[in-house]
Amino acid sequence: MITEKPRIQFTPERLERAREILTHYPEGKQKSALLPLLHLIQEQEGWTSPEAMDYIADFLGIKPIEVYEVATFYTMYHLEPVGKHVIEYCRTGPCMIMGGEEVYAHLKKKIGADDGETSPDNLFTIKPVECLAACGWGPCFQIREKYYTHLTIEKVDEIIDELKK
Ligand code: FES
Repeated sequence: MITEKPRIQFTPERLERAREILTHYPEGKQKSALLPLLHLIQEQEGWTSPEAMDYIADFLGIKPIEVYEVATFYTMYHLEPVGKHVIEYCRTGPCMIMGGEEVYAHLKKKIGADDGETSPDNLFTIKPVECLAACGWGPCFQIREKYYTHLTIEKVDEIIDELKK
C-alpha cells in the first residue's frame, strides 16, 4: 500500500479513463484490467517504469509482483525509456526466410541503432520480437498498433524518412 503521494499517477483525464476501464470487469475481477491500465500508463509516461508498475499495482490493489510478471512477459510494454517510435520487427523463421535478415540489417543501419537500442536522434527504438501473426506478409514490423508488411529495403527507407518528418 502506497502511503505517500506516488511520483507517478494518472493525469485527471487518464484517471477518468482508467475508472471507465474498470467498469468493463465484474466486481472483484478488476485485476483483469491490468493490461489496458499498463497501456494507459505507458502511453502517459512513454515507458513502463518500476514506479509506474507500482502505481498500477496500488491502483488495482494487487501485489507489485503480479504487475511485474505480466509487464515483463509482453514485448509491447517498454521496461526501459524508448524513442518516439518503437519498431518491433519479427525475427521468426518465415519472415527471415522472406528476406528479413537483409531488410532488418538495413533498417538498423538506417536508424543507427541495434537490437534494444535507441537511435542517436532519440526517434527510434528497435526491438526484435517473435511472430507478429502476419507470416504471409513478411518481413514485417509493428509501430504501436500499425503493421508494416512486405518490407523491402526501399520500403524501409520510405517509412523511416516519412517518420522523420
Ligand atoms: Fe513473421 Fe509470423 S513469422 S509475422
